[in-house]
Amino acid sequence: MVDLTTTYLGLKLKNPLVASPSPLSEKVENVKRMEEAGIAAVVMYSLFEEQIIHESLELDHFLNSGTESFAEALTYFPDIGRYSLAPDKYIQTLEKTKLAVNIPVMGSLNGVSTGGWIEYARKIQDAGADGLELNLYYLPTDPNLTSNQLEDNYLKLVGDIRTSIKIPLAIKLAPFFTALPNFASRLVDAGADGLVLFNRFYQPDFDLENLEVVPNLVLSNSDELRLPLRWIAILYGKVKADFALTSGVHTSEDAIKAIMAGANVAMTTSALLKRGTQAIRQILTGMEAWMIAHEYESIQQMHGSMSQGAVTDPAAFERANYMKVLNSFNPQFI
Ligand SMILES: Cc1cc2nc3c(=O)[nH]c(=O)nc-3n(C[C@H](O)[C@H](O)[C@H](O)COP(=O)(O)O)c2cc1C
Repeated sequence: MVDLTTTYLGLKLKNPLVASPSPLSEKVENVKRMEEAGIAAVVMYSLFEEQIIHESLELDHFLNSGTESFAEALTYFPDIGRYSLAPDKYIQTLEKTKLAVNIPVMGSLNGVSTGGWIEYARKIQDAGADGLELNLYYLPTDPNLTSNQLEDNYLKLVGDIRTSIKIPLAIKLAPFFTALPNFASRLVDAGADGLVLFNRFYQPDFDLENLEVVPNLVLSNSDELRLPLRWIAILYGKVKADFALTSGVHTSEDAIKAIMAGANVAMTTSALLKRGTQAIRQILTGMEAWMIAHEYESIQQMHGSMSQGAVTDPAAFERANYMKVLNSFNPQFI
């Protein structure tokens, strides 16, 4: 028997496979099913800053009915569609989920600015969450906004949330930072216990017939693993945080690569949405079989073993490898 246990954000987990936020966690039964299939922990779907502000604007409207400002104010907010579950329902679902399962359950907030809405961090803590994941997702389109300003805003938000809760705090990030290692270590200084790499950006597409920009949600595949894999391998040992790898974990090999890069846990969503909870069993049994075949006894033994600090050719992660890769390509049709 191999030892699949690991730790993440100070939590002891029975294995390194965690369900990342998705509509699956909207229903307690789904979380129970994931637990039965062997998932080690679940991060709930996100509660968005926009949802919380939306609701407080509605409350404001009822308190000051007759004012003209409400309809206008609401137009500033995107159509939040299926995510418009009321914030209180979120807290109730979290409470019910915690009562129904024995695995750790984390809450998730998704926002970019500091303000009253962050009181939900404490509400999530009070509902019994074992940790909080904060998803920073902002697309800067204003040429006057500098990267420093944006990063400082993020850090202020992280600092404010850190002081409002005692449970572990992980930050889910996009890959698009000019100097990611610097920002990552500033996040840790601001109070992050863990970094979740990376948010997937859902790139809109163009509908050429109707000349419209249309949303386009495509589930991931294993090819997407490489971006977070590389960055976790680079940051492991340099930034004092736990790491969760999200994007492209579909197979046991994907999860093993994540651990070897330096991730404490491998998170998965698309595999669950494509294959159901059997994906959990397949990944876990595949990991055990691989470890036995390759004579690994524990996850601990593999953790970070392929990180930049551990491999014999650390330049493989850097610019030096860029020319080597280009030169290695043999064009067949020229
Ligand atoms: C339908 C859907 C809903 C999602 N909802 C959330 C969410 O509420 N909060 C969040 O942080 N990530 C959300 N994600 C992102 C996933 O948690 C995950 O990070 C991403 O899909 C990459 O992992 P994967 O390759 O395993 O799918 C969602 C993904 C999908 C496909």
